[in-house]
Amino acid sequence: MNKSNSRKILLLPGDGIGPEVVREVKKILEWFNKNKSLDFSFEEELIGGASIDANKIPITDEVFFKSLQSDAVILGACGGPKWDNLEFSKKPERALLKLRKELKLFANLRPAICFKQLVDSSSLKPEIVSGLDIMIVRELTGGIYFGEPRGIEPIENNQRKGINTHTYTTNEIHRIAKVAFDLAKKRSNKVTSCEKSNVMEAGVLWREEVQIVKDKDYKSVELNHMLADNCAMQLLRNPKQFDVILADNLFGDMLSDEAAMLTGSLGLLPSASLGAKDKNGKIRSLYEPVHGSAPDIAGKNMANPIATILSLSMALRYSLNLDKEADQLDLAVQKVLDDGLRTKDIISKGKKEVTTTDMGDAIISKLK
Ligand code: IPM
Ligand code: MG
Repeated sequence: MNKSNSRKILLLPGDGIGPEVVREVKKILEWFNKNKSLDFSFEEELIGGASIDANKIPITDEVFFKSLQSDAVILGACGGPKWDNLEFSKKPERALLKLRKELKLFANLRPAICFKQLVDSSSLKPEIVSGLDIMIVRELTGGIYFGEPRGIEPIENNQRKGINTHTYTTNEIHRIAKVAFDLAKKRSNKVTSCEKSNVMEAGVLWREEVQIVKDKDYKSVELNHMLADNCAMQLLRNPKQFDVILADNLFGDMLSDEAAMLTGSLGLLPSASLGAKDKNGKIRSLYEPVHGSAPDIAGKNMANPIATILSLSMALRYSLNLDKEADQLDLAVQKVLDDGLRTKDIISKGKKEVTTTDMGDAIISKLK
């Protein structure tokens, strides 16, 4: 299905539970087209291990160009044990990193929200996590993930040396800091910026440049600097002190997993990766659940589709200018949780366990 003026969405289910959770998103898009006269056109393509099996590479040029041309890309998950032993440059995850880098998706937004219906799923005490609402803003196209030189090389005495390089420039820091400050203004007006300025020069630069951005354009926003290891600790001690957490690529990767788990389940958390506005005001974007491919439960109709469905809701909001529909979808998810329906990852006593498909259907029934 492909209409010319429609909103083009590219679905990349990928590996593991990816296809199962993305299938539910597809059902919702179809529902919106049919019942709300929306004009989504969507195509589905291979990525990650699925693409390696079919095409010997984690993403083909054709799929890459399709993602360039779409209004939003929704990805399930990349990777799994089947491909673990491949050479580094051929691994499924390279597809994801290529999309992030070449679509210039420098801003990764990872909300960690503790749903009131699920406070008991968290490993922390309910009073510590209830009402938790943090937004992690992770820089996504710089730092040690992409820095050169990199590699593994032989050295003397039959030893080898592994090399990665962590670099950030003023511009890279400024553009991600602005994203964090702009988001904070729409929330509780507070940014905590994390680095290791006690041991890394790039951390010193990060701290100084974030402060410059704040002093120049965001005087009204509260800014705190925190060492990243302390932030990891504070997230467990008193997570509600945070509003927006700003971090580089590597620290953001780790802190976002930690923050996510505070909420009880990775199965609920969406993410958005956004690029800069182009000259037509359009931003490139990719949406994906924070959980990975979960190979142990793949193919069992057991996975929680909510993280991917909420990723669609972020796409409606940030890329497709459909705030009303995004609200409607968020509300439908809340209603289903209120009704006590739970996939296995979030089941608790007295609640009804449902499959991936049932959960998708239940959410659609609440859209009506
Ligand atoms: C994430 C993942 C990825 C990352 C992997 C799959 C490459 O952990 O999105 O957080 O490290 O960025
Ligand atoms: Mg990660």
